[in-house]
Amino acid sequence: MSYQEVYQGWKNDPEGFWMEAAQAIDWDQAPSKALFDKGDNLYEWFADAKVNTCWNAVDRHVEAGRGEQTAIIYDSPITHTKRAISYIELRNRVASLAGALRAKGIEKGDRVIIYMPMIPEALEAMLACARLGAVHSVVFGGFAANELAVRIDDAKPKAIIAASCGLEPGRVVHYKPLLDGAIDLAEHKPDFCVIFQREQEVAHLEEGRDYNWHGFQYGVEPAECVPVEGNHPAYILYTSGTTGQPKGVIRHTAGQLVALNWTMKNLYNVDPGDVFWAASDVGWVVGHSYICYAPLIHGNTTIVFEGKPVGTPDAGTFWRVISEHNVKSFFTAPTAFRAVKREDPTGEFVKKYDLGCLEQVFLAGERADPDTIVWAQDQLQVPVIDHWWQTETGWAIAANPVGIEELPIKLGSPTVPMPGYDVTILDDAGHPVNPGTLGAIAIKLPLPPGTLPTLWNAEERFKKSYLNTFPGYYETGDAGMMDEDGYVYIMARTDDVINVAGHRLSTGGMEEVLANHPDVAECAVIGVADSLKGQMPVGFLCLNAGADRDNGEVVKEVVKMVREKIGPVAAFKLAVVVDRLPKTRSGKILRGTMVSIADGTAWKMPATIDDPVILDEITVALQSLGYAKG
Ligand code: COA
Ligand code: AMP
Repeated sequence: MSYQEVYQGWKNDPEGFWMEAAQAIDWDQAPSKALFDKGDNLYEWFADAKVNTCWNAVDRHVEAGRGEQTAIIYDSPITHTKRAISYIELRNRVASLAGALRAKGIEKGDRVIIYMPMIPEALEAMLACARLGAVHSVVFGGFAANELAVRIDDAKPKAIIAASCGLEPGRVVHYKPLLDGAIDLAEHKPDFCVIFQREQEVAHLEEGRDYNWHGFQYGVEPAECVPVEGNHPAYILYTSGTTGQPKGVIRHTAGQLVALNWTMKNLYNVDPGDVFWAASDVGWVVGHSYICYAPLIHGNTTIVFEGKPVGTPDAGTFWRVISEHNVKSFFTAPTAFRAVKREDPTGEFVKKYDLGCLEQVFLAGERADPDTIVWAQDQLQVPVIDHWWQTETGWAIAANPVGIEELPIKLGSPTVPMPGYDVTILDDAGHPVNPGTLGAIAIKLPLPPGTLPTLWNAEERFKKSYLNTFPGYYETGDAGMMDEDGYVYIMARTDDVINVAGHRLSTGGMEEVLANHPDVAECAVIGVADSLKGQMPVGFLCLNAGADRDNGEVVKEVVKMVREKIGPVAAFKLAVVVDRLPKTRSGKILRGTMVSIADGTAWKMPATIDDPVILDEITVALQSLGYAKG
């Protein structure tokens, strides 16, 4: 079947399409139907089914006689470790961990926060929660104690599972002090913590609260899989919104199983047994969907890679891992390829490895610039496929479904909408626009299975953030267009979210931190174009009248504050003191104009600007940081 036939097939009969996809899942109780309309534009999928994610991701492959197949390959160029875990070993390890969690009181519906680096134990912790029907919330290791505390207070976990440390090139990330600090800061206190002690750093355990990962499993009964309702939350994953309060994206169990399983063949073109590698982190949605759940549900081998595209030890690491472990489909972020390209523009490292196993490469997380795609295609001689998705959707909204049909690649476009997604470009008034016209990208409701049904404990915020602007549609927060052939183009965010090295960050959240500096009267943070990371945050500070401070000192202090409050992942290193910020007459800061000046792109003087002279001052300030050269 062609893509068009599959897409039309879904459009003509969405219920039939998803019920058929659901047949690939092992149900404890099969769903009576796919879509459940809860009214008020809220929907759920396969809500009346009973199913367990861990059973589908692990046990059923063992039952089917594939227990000896490798489930997880751990490859850590940082610790010089390689390890393979078979499905049967994974089943035993996860059942034991789940049993220990259950013995300490974790039950279906309890929340468990996971704060771990890229080690197989992170996946085991996720799967152990899934086995019990507990709701995990994985927090990315690059977030600081305060961000962890915010998530603890929102998710109210009964337990936290963490490692003693993470390893960044040349730096040990001391997780345990960060965890202790977060628990001190949070109002909610977990009943207990489980700490995986890594040999690089053995953390101090607090008597009565902290348990050693191995010790607490000693002598416990392994846990069986607990069937849960189809609409039972599998996890909460916090993502950046317009403010410092992150949004708790919920994923329901059954929808995730059906949708992710469907994508493995149709999008990523792998069959059970093939090796699939997503070089991301379990702390992000890509890590949830494509390091942990989808490859395992589909019976693939997944790779847990603890390293960086460059410097661990060199720009050939990706190619070594692909060739050594026989990777068929590889998924990474454009920024990672830009980092490799910068160090190895002519592909000297590529030539060192036999990459005959590699059939296609997927890019997502940020805009894939045509230069990077062309470079990767030239080097690797396989299709390099951009695809577009969000934490909220959990899987691709638009892609080139090579498992169905390889469509012609148009540089700058993540190709076409996937079945389940009725993508529409709307003008400000909510009317569909013609092909080639820019607008807000919206998706006609309902969203497909595997996407967010709502936000954790925040239904009103869910409606306000995604449903209210365009009634009947989900507002993606991205702006762009579609061409005559139905190809989608993603141009920019319509909110204050920026994308730094494939990491989604809130400039609003950074502004909240800067505003807390005692000398800062007013501030703005914008995302400026960066040739490596896509975007970089830059802060503008107006100091209080009478603040008799050295500007450089204040800048250093705010940089430190953001690192301490949000974390190193914010990559906030540049700020400048200015007298005033450019505003409209109604007092709105003209961030978009500032971005255009910084990037040297064309811009028009906003008709509503209060005082145009301020833009000259901003230009000079940006030039002092090396921007606004155009
Ligand atoms: N734990 C602790 N700190 C972390 C971290 C983690 N898991 N991940 C990143 N950090 C830190 C980094 O050490 C760095 O700290 P520094 O300021 O002390 O140098 C900071 O956060 C910023 O990290 P990053 O933006 O990733 O920059 P980098 O210079 O370390 O690496 C790239 C640049 C391009 C190589 C890297 O960003 C990369 O591989 N990106 C791919 C991203 C990706 O896969 N995204 C997932 C979406 S698909
Ligand atoms: P995240 O939730 O971290 O996955 O970030 C989602 C956002 O990243 C999207 O809303 C887009 O702004 C951006 N994004 C993700 N993939 C792409 C892509 N292929 N092209 C352009 N932007 C992308």
